[in-house]
Amino acid sequence: MNIVVAKGLTKDYNGLRAVNGVDFEIRRGECFGFLGPNGAGKTTVMRVLYCFIEPTSGDIEVFGINVKDKPALIKSQLGVMPQDENLDLELSVIENLIVYARYFDMPKRKAMSVANELLSYVELSGKARANIKSLSGGMKRSLLLARALLNNPAILILDEPTTGLDPHTRQAVWKKLNDLKARETTLILTTHYMEEADRLCDRVAIMDQGKIIAIDSPGHLKEMHGGNLEEVYLKLTGRPLED
Ligand SMILES: Nc1ncnc2c1ncn2[C@@H]1O[C@H](COP(=O)(O)OP(=O)(O)OP(=O)(O)O)[C@@H](O)[C@H]1O
Ligand SMILES: [Mg+2]
Repeated sequence: MNIVVAKGLTKDYNGLRAVNGVDFEIRRGECFGFLGPNGAGKTTVMRVLYCFIEPTSGDIEVFGINVKDKPALIKSQLGVMPQDENLDLELSVIENLIVYARYFDMPKRKAMSVANELLSYVELSGKARANIKSLSGGMKRSLLLARALLNNPAILILDEPTTGLDPHTRQAVWKKLNDLKARETTLILTTHYMEEADRLCDRVAIMDQGKIIAIDSPGHLKEMHGGNLEEVYLKLTGRPLED
């Protein structure tokens, strides 16, 4: 069953066409990745999907609801890990979670216990009272993941979940995302790491210059075009995936 359906989705920013008439369907429970280089339009698709910006034209339905009709209802069932760290620097680690829980009308006591549980899940319990500025880049990404899980979302959206992480931390994040998938959370992510797409995604949409060039499983793409995903990307678009 499809949990997201996009048809002719287009987004312009002041005359610049960032996303150019894309069609895709995401199935409940799968891990779906948008793979493409800088500027391909991945973040823009994510932002429309999580109702942060409206499409210029075309349609996108999440849980069968058009994003233009009931964005608040959609947002209540989504978890979002944005590409940019938008943590509140004035608040401690745990306060960042508790304040965010207010968006979901979570009573304070419940918020406290869920926040503690999630900090333990992302291995940040020891930093609960720490200042955000004292966290490493990897710890901030972990906190963003914990925050995205506060409302036990049906869909978890991850915009470049492991960019900038060292190989060990990246593996740890992959393990967590695989755990979540096993618990039937639908994962939608963007990446420009072919290994990440290969390890996590059931299907990937290959994006280039605002368009989707192909949608398929990593295995089938490699079989059809030969070589690894990097080579598939080069064949399909004529440009390298990673710089
Ligand atoms: N808020 C904005 N205002 C104007 N132009 C924008 C804005 N956000 C993105 N763009 C432009 O839209 C295009 C797609 O950007 P987007 O951020 O969606 O790409 P991306 O695939 O996520 O890239 P990256 O891998 O670098 O994160 C780019 O040309 C970018 O400069
Ligand atoms: Mg981006």
